[in-house]
Amino acid sequence: MRAVDAIQQKRDGGELAADVLRELILAYSRDEIPDYQMSAFLMATFFRGMTSAETVALTEAMVDSGATIDLAALGRPAVDKHSTGGVGDKTSIALGPIVAACGVPFAKMSGRGLGHTGGTLDKLEAIPGFRIALSEDEFVSQVTDVGMAIVSQTPELVPADARLYALRDVTATVDQISLIAASIMSKKIAAGASAILLDVKVGAGAFMRTLDDARELALAMIALGVGANRQVKCELTDMGQPLGCAVGNALEINEAIDTLQGNGPADFAELVVSSAKHLLAMSDLGIDEVESEARARGAIASGRAYVVYEEWIVAQGGDPDRNLLPRAAVIREVIAERSGYVTEVDALAIGIATVQLGAGRARKQDAIDHSTGVVCCSKRGDSIEAGSVIAVVHARSADEADQGVAAVQNAYTLGEEAPPASPLVLEFLT
Ligand code: URA
Repeated sequence: MRAVDAIQQKRDGGELAADVLRELILAYSRDEIPDYQMSAFLMATFFRGMTSAETVALTEAMVDSGATIDLAALGRPAVDKHSTGGVGDKTSIALGPIVAACGVPFAKMSGRGLGHTGGTLDKLEAIPGFRIALSEDEFVSQVTDVGMAIVSQTPELVPADARLYALRDVTATVDQISLIAASIMSKKIAAGASAILLDVKVGAGAFMRTLDDARELALAMIALGVGANRQVKCELTDMGQPLGCAVGNALEINEAIDTLQGNGPADFAELVVSSAKHLLAMSDLGIDEVESEARARGAIASGRAYVVYEEWIVAQGGDPDRNLLPRAAVIREVIAERSGYVTEVDALAIGIATVQLGAGRARKQDAIDHSTGVVCCSKRGDSIEAGSVIAVVHARSADEADQGVAAVQNAYTLGEEAPPASPLVLEFLT
């Protein structure tokens, strides 16, 4: 196979045979194809798309480019969950302990934040001492002993994705549905769980801006997972406004703890329980969604989920005492300039403001400040009085706090009338 022929075939709208696509990806992973040819191939794919068969071949080649995790030692199926990324999305940190407290192994590999979206690993690293890098043996034995682990992906797992993603990032070829679906599902398949719950975010703060695109991505990912003998279900959830109130690493850990103790913000608590319900119903417990939801709520109410949270954090070297989470030097309130209803809290604007406060990174190598961020006290639909606190900015300095307050003010839109109620979970696909 000559790379130039594959590029030309894709450029002209042809369908590549599975073995050609496979060889292209594996040769690129072995450094036998240069970045400039792979860039051309990605751009041709961006414009021409891929058939379902091509997307399957791409995903399989990506999985086969590296090692896979064998969870057989658990002796039973594990569950996993993946979100396509959003603002304030700390779901896995509360969800894992609930699922594990209900007796189902939760084995998850996570990523870092990039751009305006946060990453679970960055949030966990706000916890003093927390180790994100475990060996495969440590990962499996921790899931056996504690019931859960959330770790960084090892470099051996799907190395083709690491290289391709970095190239897509700088060639404007990230937002293509087959490429995203293959990238996400190759990592989920390689990580070994039998049942995977996907959360495709939709709206201003998400990759997928429209419900139609989100649905297409969800269906592509479900097909890839099912083709690899996994059980896969997918929630499409609103990312027009931030999820919960807290955006920023330590702030989000605090909110996850609140939620595990039954005091979380309503929308976030709803998503956590709904996700736990789906995962438990997909597990080997053999229970339906009604019983699953009751057990998830019971794990929170009894305090068992929070106990598992503490055991998990300790197992990964962290100190679960929330008083030890880093605190920002400057904390400034954002005050409503008028009375009215909150009609919008722009998730993208809040995400960008949070990055500018130091909580996220513009480039992969940037350091972040785990203490900073924004707490959105008022959410869409809330009625507020002029002079009340709508948000709180946590900053490194007075100057950055001023900029943060201005940016957060602009992210809020107030109106005379309450906006129509909009659900958080927009659709559930199986
Ligand atoms: N997340 C991924 O892991 N891959 C993509 O391509 C997009 C989001």
